[in-house]
Amino acid sequence: GRRPRVLSGIQPTADSFHVGNYLGALRQWVDLQATHEAFYSIVDLHAITVEHDPELLRRRTRIAAAQLLALGIDPERSTLFVQSQVPAHTQLSWVLECLTGFGEASRMTQFKDKSVKGGADRSSVGLFTYPILQAADILAYRADLVPVGEDQRQHLELSRTLAGRFNGRFGPTLTVPSPHILKETAKVYDLTDPSAKMSKSSPGGALDLLADVKGSVKKIRSAVTDTGRDVVFDPENKPGVSNLLSLLSVFSGTPVPALQASFEGRGYGDLKKELGEAFAAFVTPLQASVKEYLDDPAELDALLTVGAGRAREVADATVSDVYEKVGL
Ligand code: ADP
Ligand code: NA
Repeated sequence: GRRPRVLSGIQPTADSFHVGNYLGALRQWVDLQATHEAFYSIVDLHAITVEHDPELLRRRTRIAAAQLLALGIDPERSTLFVQSQVPAHTQLSWVLECLTGFGEASRMTQFKDKSVKGGADRSSVGLFTYPILQAADILAYRADLVPVGEDQRQHLELSRTLAGRFNGRFGPTLTVPSPHILKETAKVYDLTDPSAKMSKSSPGGALDLLADVKGSVKKIRSAVTDTGRDVVFDPENKPGVSNLLSLLSVFSGTPVPALQASFEGRGYGDLKKELGEAFAAFVTPLQASVKEYLDDPAELDALLTVGAGRAREVADATVSDVYEKVGL
């Protein structure tokens, strides 16, 4: 039989991914390539559900691709592609929309979160149906596993529900996907407010992979810590320090308990210094690699075209199957 298949997507909505994206999602993308047949998508159709600038979107799509390649997504082993280059996503999405209840779609929290500022009346229908397109993204590849951050659990649940509903109505066709969440680092917190998750919407507390390294080191140095002075991993009582320890663990490759032991008798200043060094050592070569990809956009686009071709083969087969079953 085939290797289990994994599908994941990320929006090209920022000039850089941040450490939360990396730990909550992208690091797993890289690791899963060893054991899975992987499909990784830059989901530009999702990025137009809110107001956007066309040129900026095009640029950010390339920046996203360059970062994924630099982080270790191997285009020989995995299928890396841009969502809008595979029409099957929107074709399947329509069928799934027709299987989704209006109330069911209304209960998706992301729409509520993102539409709060402008009000639901002024939000696009695309934003409303976004989780259904996301379900299509996953189901089109008959993915077994979907690596997601905690915050995406609800959307994956909808994908599972819709796959099950389709199969129940029309006979076994779609694979019901399972979530794959990396526990310890599933959530990265804001450096200026460790009660909030790190997010591109609060850039002050986010560590961007492509940001000026000196600036990032400075951000780490001024990260909010907690009362007391011992460097111990205690997310409940020491959320700031625990967040920094988790990050240092990832960037140094040292498990948290060993780190904690090494900081005995030392304070928060040392922790921040070591994290700054480890982060700089990680992002410096990464940034050089990203720059190389971006310096040759034609080559980058060609690589994405090959990826889209491979993705289309798989996704088109699912859509054919689905249309056939539905009577289209
Ligand atoms: P943002 O929250 O900055 O807008 P996205 O929503 O675009 O980021 O998230 C892209 C991916 O990165 C998702 O899989 C999400 O779960 C993950 N992710 C984002 N922020 C974090 C975080 N602080 N901790 C862990 N994972 C995160
Ligand atoms: Na978000």
